[in-house]
Amino acid sequence: MGIVTYPDEALRGRSSPVENIDKEVVSLADGMTEALFRAEGIGLAAPQVGVLKRLIVVNVEDDFHIVVNPEIVQTNEEKESAAEGCLSIPGPEADVERPTRVEVRGYDLDGNEVKLTREGLAARVFLHEVDHLNGTLFIDHLSETARSATLKEYRNARKEENTGAAA
Ligand code: NI
Repeated sequence: MGIVTYPDEALRGRSSPVENIDKEVVSLADGMTEALFRAEGIGLAAPQVGVLKRLIVVNVEDDFHIVVNPEIVQTNEEKESAAEGCLSIPGPEADVERPTRVEVRGYDLDGNEVKLTREGLAARVFLHEVDHLNGTLFIDHLSETARSATLKEYRNARKEENTGAAA
């Protein structure tokens, strides 16, 4: 399962809730998990493999979760800014301000309710992945200046990749 990259239109769509956790959903979750591990990433959302369904996989320091229909039910007031990147915008990183703690609810692949409270990097990843389900990318949280600098870095990196120049 390949990861789509910016500006693929799948990244801007709004994902639909998963109605039934059927074979197709399980196989989507398997494919996403494999893609995440292959990319050595820490989170991946279904739109990033071109499927507009509300499904995410997160793996922060071996804390691995597949969450179906994830919802951020609570965030704390405190925010912190930290470097963030995205497997669909490979290369650049930029500082994004996010709440430091989240409560996430959803379902696992057996249909059991999942309720997680996470802080720091894991909280950031859950927020980033749920954003993807709503067509929001980390660059959307940046100032206009930071966003154009980030996209410029991304385009330059891709250009070098495509021409085979060493980077
Ligand atoms: Ni991302």
